[in-house]
Amino acid sequence: MKEKFLIKGLGGKKKLKGEISVRGSKNAVLPAMASSLLFKDDVSFSNVPVIEDVFRMIELMEELGGKISRNDNRAFKINTNSIKKFDLESDIAKKMRASIILSGPLLARFGKVSFPYPGGCVIGTRPIDLFLEGFQKMGAKVSEKSDRYHIRAPKEGLKGAEIFFKVQSVTATESFILAGVLAKGKTVLKNCAMEPEVKSIADFLESCGAKIKGAGTPTIEIQGGGLLSAKGKKYKTIPDRLEAGSFLILGAMCADNLLIKDCNPSDLEILIEALRQSGVKIEAGNSTIKISGNSKHKNSSFKALNIKTHEYPGFPTDLQAPMTVFLTQVSGESVIFETIFEGRLNYTEDLVKMGADIVMWDSHRVQVKGPAKLRGREVDGPDIRAGLAFVLAGIVAKGKSVINNAYYIDRGYERIEERLRDIGVDIKRIKD
Ligand code: EPU
Repeated sequence: MKEKFLIKGLGGKKKLKGEISVRGSKNAVLPAMASSLLFKDDVSFSNVPVIEDVFRMIELMEELGGKISRNDNRAFKINTNSIKKFDLESDIAKKMRASIILSGPLLARFGKVSFPYPGGCVIGTRPIDLFLEGFQKMGAKVSEKSDRYHIRAPKEGLKGAEIFFKVQSVTATESFILAGVLAKGKTVLKNCAMEPEVKSIADFLESCGAKIKGAGTPTIEIQGGGLLSAKGKKYKTIPDRLEAGSFLILGAMCADNLLIKDCNPSDLEILIEALRQSGVKIEAGNSTIKISGNSKHKNSSFKALNIKTHEYPGFPTDLQAPMTVFLTQVSGESVIFETIFEGRLNYTEDLVKMGADIVMWDSHRVQVKGPAKLRGREVDGPDIRAGLAFVLAGIVAKGKSVINNAYYIDRGYERIEERLRDIGVDIKRIKD
């Protein structure tokens, strides 16, 4: 049954207070789960966020024949030795773009894989040319039949290759690290994504014996070898920097005092820098971010900013929508330039209906004039991150908002309403 969120907004008052913990990162745990295909024994996972995308990944891997044994909600083990199918189930793979991360390790271990054109959030065209070209460089043959891609490795297995990514891609970098671990010889990846999630997975694999150099930099070298052994080692999911960043933006707009716990502020430097430049007082510790006495500073005393999304360590495209909500509240004109996905500003139409002064210049750029008084209304969450931005807009607005498609938010954020209620947000989950 469909669910939605009902929010009673604060009308610009800064009333939220308390502590909020950050869960494990969706975009780290999904590729880490895929990496269990490189192991001959069980791989254990902890600090796993309880979110829909993780459930979908479990379903996909079980459907292939993988065995998942749960310890509790946030911890499980995966064993991939009994995998006998190599075709990703269409319904799930079409809905979740991250499913493509399974293609590299499946191909490297079993020599074949097929998948439908992957879907996911509606944030613009999401091509897979880097994957197809990379697999070909490693000796695989690609064909298209019945709306699916079929990839076959040579008989002797994938061979190491030098691959230059013409655009930096997070999941392509991860997929080819995973493929390289089981390929014959050396794989050199250039113009790699440097996101903390990429490094976290490479670090884990290295700790289990994989030979990977340079993760977190543009050039990564992988010396291929046999299956890895986890020998009881655990992948502890790193904190979700995008969730932490969204809470920080919420705190800046709506909280008097807020402590964000269990996060890595060092993964969020650009956001912290931007908010400080705007005038927000932020104390960043090792694993906490604190905002205090913020009700003394009116949102209209904060300054406008120009934001340009960029691959890490630049401003994350996944925080662009929450940041735009913040910029509707501050004084002056801001320009937001979305450089990664061309469909990722469409949600601003709904912010305009809530009272924001936003003009779309083109599919990559909007101008925001603030401060605007937002009014609650009913909106449809179009993707994970814009869905959460609507929740933030509903909280800062005056009156009631209904955010439809709670499922999108549940894909990436664990029971968001319960955690927001703990810091004073008036939010309910209701059935449609
Ligand atoms: N691209 C290509 N060809 C490809 C692959 C990507 O041209 O074969 C382009 C894309 O069109 C885009 C750019 O490369 O312009 C970067 O996209 P990327 O491949 O890095 O995106 P992704 O790996 O599919 C991950 C996250 C996204 C996040 C982006 C950008 C995961 C599972 N997903 O996607 O997260 O927005 O990186 O940082 O890690 C989300 O969590 O809500 C989400 C959408």
